[in-house]
Amino acid sequence: MVCRQPNIASRSQDHWDDDPQGYRSRRDIGQRRSDDAKVQRLKMNSLHILGGSGHGKVVAEIASLLGYKQIVFVDAVWPERTENGRWPVVGKPTHDHQPMFCAVGRNDVRAELFEEFDLWDSPTLVHPSAIISPSAKIGAGSLVVAGSVINADARVGCGSILNTGCSVDHDCLLEDFVHISPGARLAGGVEVGAGSWIGIGAVVREGVRIGRNVMVAAGAAVVQDVPDAARIGGVPAKGL
Ligand SMILES: CC(C)(COP(=O)(O)OP(=O)(O)OC[C@H]1O[C@@H](n2cnc3c(N)ncnc32)[C@H](O)[C@@H]1OP(=O)(O)O)[C@@H](O)C(=O)NCCC(=O)NCCS
Repeated sequence: MVCRQPNIASRSQDHWDDDPQGYRSRRDIGQRRSDDAKVQRLKMNSLHILGGSGHGKVVAEIASLLGYKQIVFVDAVWPERTENGRWPVVGKPTHDHQPMFCAVGRNDVRAELFEEFDLWDSPTLVHPSAIISPSAKIGAGSLVVAGSVINADARVGCGSILNTGCSVDHDCLLEDFVHISPGARLAGGVEVGAGSWIGIGAVVREGVRIGRNVMVAAGAAVVQDVPDAARIGGVPAKGL
């Protein structure tokens, strides 16, 4: 029943509590740092992508669509996997590789890298085809992949992945480092704790609270609250 992921804390809830207007959404970054706009514009030209897996390619293509001109991979572990001729790889990441976006799929590893490279101000990348409610807030270093819909007053923490064609409905609250896999559906008012992974095509009934570091298997239907570190699947979802 215990998930392989270690405990991951969430910072976003603290920030939201401090700042009820929301924090670190793309919109906020643009508004709140207008004095820093020139620096931001210059930084917009380059992006270091940490992690050269298939997920990294998805991130690179979204960044390119958003206007980043110089995209460079940093990956000390698998530099050969990013040698695809499209983007250069500079090997081991350092603190000088700024701005940096973490494109590591595993929630626990992403959380560690956020701390190691202090990525709490990294950009939020949203594919142009995603539909984001004007009242939704999405944290720094989060990725929204093509076709996703994030509805009214949803809150998404930092370093999260909202993967291809997922939907996060009104008033959902997602803490840091969650992964909503392709095609997964969260009904209104669902809460997802830090580090949890909702598998591909899973559905979650309205108002359900999913704890931290939970694994929801592909295709599951979650109809009741889930404790921290649980691993569940099936229709209706039960412990695996
Ligand atoms: C839940 C999951 C992590 C289990 O993977 P695993 O640890 O390799 O486990 P196994 O495939 O060995 O299966 C273990 C048991 O769980 C069951 N199981 C696996 N996946 C299941 C699922 N999606 N729904 C219901 N039961 C499932 C298996 O039938 C098996 O049961 P058994 O012990 O009675 O034979 C995996 O199946 C899964 O759903 N991953 C999510 C994939 C995903 O969303 N990818 C998107 C990437 S962007």
